[in-house]
Amino acid sequence: MPLTIVRNDITKMECDAIVNAANNSLLGGGGVDGAIHRAAGPKLLEECRTLGGCDTGKAKITGGYELPAKYVIHTVGPIWQGGSHGERELLASCYRESLALAAERGCESVAFPLISAGAYGYPRPEALRVAMDTCSEFLMEHDMMVYIVVFDRDSLFVSEKLFADIRRYVDDNYVSEHTDRSRRKMFSLLGNLAAAKSESAPVDAAMPMAAAMFAAEECCESAVPDDLEKAMAQIDESFSQMLLRKIDEKGLTDAQCYKKANIDRKLFSKIRSDVHYKPKKITVIAFAAALELSIDETRDMLMKAGFALSHSSKFDIIIEYFITHGRYDIIEINEALFAFDQPLIGG
Ligand code: AR6
Repeated sequence: MPLTIVRNDITKMECDAIVNAANNSLLGGGGVDGAIHRAAGPKLLEECRTLGGCDTGKAKITGGYELPAKYVIHTVGPIWQGGSHGERELLASCYRESLALAAERGCESVAFPLISAGAYGYPRPEALRVAMDTCSEFLMEHDMMVYIVVFDRDSLFVSEKLFADIRRYVDDNYVSEHTDRSRRKMFSLLGNLAAAKSESAPVDAAMPMAAAMFAAEECCESAVPDDLEKAMAQIDESFSQMLLRKIDEKGLTDAQCYKKANIDRKLFSKIRSDVHYKPKKITVIAFAAALELSIDETRDMLMKAGFALSHSSKFDIIIEYFITHGRYDIIEINEALFAFDQPLIGG
């Protein structure tokens, strides 16, 4: 997964470079800046003294010293002043400039904290969105592994409205799953009752009757294919074949599709060259979102890889929420999954 959000202390990240949310002096401070200087040791400050500070929105690079990372990229985020003082552009520039420096030094992996989202007061959901958007834009043109490292456990990482909407959807669907089970029980009881009351019907005939009512009900929920021949031809299609067919049907190039899906090139090539490739569920869902598949097509693609969407899994219900609402932005889906402590999608 080229872009991912993780919960960690950035000083522990084993990547080629970690990014520091510094101030204009580059001479250390509190928050993540303090933590990085403490973990890197005094030589980092010595090197920082030679840099002559750094403008807001720009970045400078030093060694990592005692850190597991080879480099520290120091960038200076904007102070939040309500949002109408060019904060978004300056913050995006921090990510772009840092990534450009990392690419220049041949880094294959970089970890960012949420720049400006602490002492500088940038609202967290917006700060995360700028981070994700800017990094994914960069990854459209570059191969690199980018981690957005989040420290605090309880902060809100999606808007309160989206969070509340998803929570309601999850609650409702857990409830309907539960209600289904109650209905099932009720029908089987009714079946037994009917059988017991009817002198002509044998007792054991009642259960199949209740079951048949359910079978009919469940059948109606799945769409009957209008083009039977086409449907028959697709029965034996593998996940990999369905994926390639859908990419063609949507008029996308392979690269457009795997980049949009947050899947790295190597994984895509494996899938492409192995007709029986068995992907992970998070990979299938990422492709389904990138291809903007309907919920039925998503279920179909999942089935080809041996998976299903279930109402007893919070992850599955959140995915269903986004797909049934036609919201296919993988960044947004991953932000929400992260906020609900679920695995992220991608490969
Ligand atoms: N690992 C990952 N994230 C962290 C860590 C850590 N060890 N520690 C804090 N964070 P901040 P800013 C998160 O205040 O808002 C400094 O004094 C933190 O929860 O460090 O850009 C500088 O010298 C928050 O989400 O940076 C500047 O004066 C994010 O890192 C000023 O603060 C950024 O919080 C910069 O403020």
